[in-house]
Amino acid sequence: MKVDGVPYRTIWLAEDGWSVEIIDQTRLPHAFAILRLTNLSEAAHAIRSMQVRGAPLIGAAAGYGVALAMRADPGSSHLAEACRVLLATRPTAVNLRWALERMERRLAPLDPAARAEAAYAEAGAIADEDVAICAAIGNHGAALIGEIAAGKAPGRPVKVLTHCNAGWLAAVDWGTALAPIYRAHDDGIPVHVWVDETRPRNQGASLTAWELGRHGVPHTVIVDNAGGHLMQHGDVDLCIVGTDRTTATGDVCNKIGTYLKALAAFDNGVPFYVGLPSPTIDWRIEDGIRQIPIEQRDGREVFEIAGRTADGVVETVALTPEGSPVANYAFDVTPARLVTGLITERGVCPASRDGLAELFPDLSSRR
Ligand code: MRU
Repeated sequence: MKVDGVPYRTIWLAEDGWSVEIIDQTRLPHAFAILRLTNLSEAAHAIRSMQVRGAPLIGAAAGYGVALAMRADPGSSHLAEACRVLLATRPTAVNLRWALERMERRLAPLDPAARAEAAYAEAGAIADEDVAICAAIGNHGAALIGEIAAGKAPGRPVKVLTHCNAGWLAAVDWGTALAPIYRAHDDGIPVHVWVDETRPRNQGASLTAWELGRHGVPHTVIVDNAGGHLMQHGDVDLCIVGTDRTTATGDVCNKIGTYLKALAAFDNGVPFYVGLPSPTIDWRIEDGIRQIPIEQRDGREVFEIAGRTADGVVETVALTPEGSPVANYAFDVTPARLVTGLITERGVCPASRDGLAELFPDLSSRR
């Protein structure tokens, strides 16, 4: 997607042909800063500190992290160590494990002298495939939006509610939940997006609002608690969210608060869709609530908040009384029964074992 007219991906190989550049997402929306990663520990830090985040981008960054590690030392023990270090950075998004297993499968059988080149090629393939997957999700999801638009008076926007950031910043390009919105908007279908601010890190307010604004998509930021009210008043035509891990049975793990939106959508008869790239499916598990590891992050994200002052300085201030304990669960699980459909790169399917297996017979049988 474009930033001030310049096309960007979220991660790319630098001009030197070996270091990796990213958009530092911890600086958005107040500054657009590019960071250069030159080694394994910088790549691991970028994922852990959420300079890069969002399930598909975490996977792509892990691929490039292995490539940087192989450039420094292509030995087998270093390959295993690099995968171990990167796997430990964040626990919930399964794209991380998926990408590391793919890198290891490709590199381990090779002579060490051939590993660095092959690692860069494989990381590049993961990134390019993600772009194609997300573009396809955009096409399938835009068809759904188009159907809703067809039932409205001409010019009336389709009102979509989304949670967290599952746009191009969360992937390599396009995004998952936002890809259908970009596709529909670019195709001339009027859309309006309700953007949940998404406490505690406010990925909606700071990232989703930023990228929609840069692309000219009409949107309004709302506090996390507003969605149910809007649904009760007929102001949401559909919800589309992303996912960090979806089970083989269609349970969807996504940013904390997604479940509550799904409950409100269910109660109000609002369709609730999930943009789901196949690398985000964990074919090995069936019960999302019991089997998906939920990341618990630093309490600072709850008891402090950062923002820009009138002087243009970004400052962090305390929110809670000193000494009040906080808890910081980063994700929750929406059971499959609350999900209207999964928008994948191969089409839209029911959130169920059969639905997923029918679209992905090749992957579902290979657990
Ligand atoms: O903690 P984050 O910012 O990495 O969480 C991101 C999300 O929950 C997204 O909705 C999810 O990764 C899907 S991204 C296309």
